[in-house]
Amino acid sequence: MPPTLDLTHITAPMVSHSDLPFRLLTTTHGASLTYTQMLDPLLLSSDPDYLAFHLRDLQCSRKLQEGGRGRGVVVQLCGNEAETVREGARRVAGWADAVDLNLGCPQQHAKDGHYGAYLLGQKDWPLIESIVSTLAHTLPVPVSAKLRLCHPAPSTLALGRRLEAAGAAWVALHARYASVRRRRQGVALLGEVRRLKGGDSDAGVGGLGIPVLSNGNVRCYEDVERNLEETGADGVMVGETLLGNPCLFDKTGVAPDPVLISLEYLELCREFGETVTLGQVQTHVRRFVGFGCARRPWYQKFRARLGDTKSVDEIERLLRFKVQRWRGAAVLGDGWDEAEEDEEDEGESREEGDELGWLDD
Ligand SMILES: Cc1cc2nc3c(=O)[nH]c(=O)nc-3n(C[C@H](O)[C@H](O)[C@H](O)COP(=O)(O)O)c2cc1C
Repeated sequence: MPPTLDLTHITAPMVSHSDLPFRLLTTTHGASLTYTQMLDPLLLSSDPDYLAFHLRDLQCSRKLQEGGRGRGVVVQLCGNEAETVREGARRVAGWADAVDLNLGCPQQHAKDGHYGAYLLGQKDWPLIESIVSTLAHTLPVPVSAKLRLCHPAPSTLALGRRLEAAGAAWVALHARYASVRRRRQGVALLGEVRRLKGGDSDAGVGGLGIPVLSNGNVRCYEDVERNLEETGADGVMVGETLLGNPCLFDKTGVAPDPVLISLEYLELCREFGETVTLGQVQTHVRRFVGFGCARRPWYQKFRARLGDTKSVDEIERLLRFKVQRWRGAAVLGDGWDEAEEDEEDEGESREEGDELGWLDD
């Protein structure tokens, strides 16, 4: 593994949410490594637009790293056929710090296409090994795997050992079973991460010799520390909580101001505009604001207005002026035209007079 890769605090792969500006926001605030969303190797090989879009992201990431600003990036791929995955991986590996095989996607399309978590049954273990081994022996970067629990859960250790033998450089475990309809319901079984790391003394089987990353159950920074203590893992991977609080890993335990963090994100979107879609920007801003304010009376109106925006500039204006006013906070910046106030807004600023009230939500 390259000595520069720090596996301690990791931003999880998230379809439609792992854009470069978001990943960079999380590394600015403490994440040590990020994953791309799951990419389709077949499309990387057959769709020039798809390849170009994702290469732009990776090339910008690489430049940032060279300039000392970014951190490592793992490209995640799905697939169930070694040559197809290798062919897709070959096109992006030169710009990545590692390539990961998705063995955790629980969605219907993964079930139908027989990939992701639907390769965790024992009959498919030789197939998974062949994919990991092919990648590990042909790519210039380390290869990892991100999995969910096998059935029964303790057998996940046996699969982990086989992946290690096949050449995996590390394994990340989201310790839940795959389910199409209940994707993240219930708590993750962190004891299974501990077993993967430390082995099963009853069965006389040792733990993995490669790093193990623990994924699941993190809602605040204390959970990160608790998770590491409970599992003995080498690092913690977080997904959903970072979508609301991208500063989770900064260790302060303080959630950022939703407007200020949104504005910081918008700046990155401007800088790397060609790597993110307007829909992704809107989704992130909705999550940042919703993290603190989802129960505020103006939140639904905010969502509707956000959905109507046509550009990053419009989103910025909505945040600086409208959202600040709805929160009862001072508008941010010049250029607020009083004539833009609509009647609906009247009174709401009085209702939301507690400037710091969003912290209570
Ligand atoms: C919106 C969203 C998209 C996701 N997309 C992916 C993905 O592309 N690949 C993957 O391995 N896991 C994906 N996941 C699962 C996360 O990486 C993570 O394993 C899961 O959310 C549990 O961690 P958390 O409780 O910290 O969110 C996604 C999760 C979310 C919320």
